[in-house]
Amino acid sequence: MTADGSREDPGTDGEDRFRQLTTLTGWREFVTERPEIPDLLPEAEWKALGDEKRLDYDEARLAHHARLLTVATPVMQQVITEGRRLQYLNRHADAGRCGLLLSGPARTGKTTCLAQLGKTIETMHHRRHPNAAGHIPVIYITVPPAATPRMIAVEFARFLGLPLTRRANVTDVLESVCGVCTDARTSLICVDEIHNVNLGTRHGAEASDTLKYFAERLPVTFAYAGIRVERAGLLSGTRGEQIAGRFSMTRTGPFGRGQQWTSLIAALEESLRLHHHSDGTLVELASYLHSRSRGMIGSLLRLVRSAAVQAVLDGSEAITKATLESIPVDIASDDEREH
Ligand SMILES: Nc1ncnc2c1ncn2[C@@H]1O[C@H](COP(=O)(O)OP(=O)(O)OP(=O)(O)O)[C@@H](O)[C@H]1O
Ligand SMILES: [Mg+2]
Repeated sequence: MTADGSREDPGTDGEDRFRQLTTLTGWREFVTERPEIPDLLPEAEWKALGDEKRLDYDEARLAHHARLLTVATPVMQQVITEGRRLQYLNRHADAGRCGLLLSGPARTGKTTCLAQLGKTIETMHHRRHPNAAGHIPVIYITVPPAATPRMIAVEFARFLGLPLTRRANVTDVLESVCGVCTDARTSLICVDEIHNVNLGTRHGAEASDTLKYFAERLPVTFAYAGIRVERAGLLSGTRGEQIAGRFSMTRTGPFGRGQQWTSLIAALEESLRLHHHSDGTLVELASYLHSRSRGMIGSLLRLVRSAAVQAVLDGSEAITKATLESIPVDIASDDEREH
């Protein structure tokens, strides 16, 4: 995160994964994937692996350590509970549907929470309707910078794979999106990077109206996520007031040094698959890890993932304070550390 809270360049360490969520195929893959944590072989068996087998074994562990796991943080649990409640309320409401808004600084886990909410809702939908493979219970879109109504409509169409002709106007696209959503029983629309809707500009205000139009036409719940949305102006003015009146706000932010932080680290440490790591090392370093990451979950994950990958690559098979010291986190955290 930069000092003014604006967005930095997207990372390259697996963050690209989020991009594929914005198409139905990618989203479905994400919803059905159950990432497996590889088993650690007994010492003797590991030592006896031939070159090729060892390569495969290490490859699987590297892939695992590069992502680790998604931890159900308290904020995530809160978002999922709230989202499920709203979904029921909205399904039976004729007007005045409510939504939820996730707001916080960069890399505090907003996208992860939003995606997990969508995954939960979609999984439950398919459980209730096992023979409805064609349903699209959840839509996930990302708002492009300086969004216009057309750009929003195009994002929906892209997710759904609807053909877009150059001549199609916004109204045509909206109509076909609404038609598909109704037939496919869509009940949750996740809109990420909502700070790109700037109500201070004419286009931004119209883009917001486009989203509102969907909310009125369809029995769906909206879940928005964005960086410090109050500051982005999403809640000011007449349009902003309407959003403020209909959306509940959940904030993401840095963790404190308490129990939640320690539990998060313990969950990550438990998922490590390293041969010589002594369990509890990371938990003991909780305070150090907090200083390194400023309590930002994104920075913590980056540091621990990097250290775990490093431990497999250099054969040390353990994370120690020295490993962590040798790894830079991100510009924001490291800058603050030096001052
Ligand atoms: N609950 C979690 N469990 C495991 N990893 C997480 C969790 N939350 C966030 N992360 C990791 O932290 C990083 C940042 O998370 P995410 O992209 O969700 O943050 P964000 O608030 O959406 O960031 P931005 O504002 O830059 O879009 C990602 O690498 C993600 O995998
Ligand atoms: Mg995000």
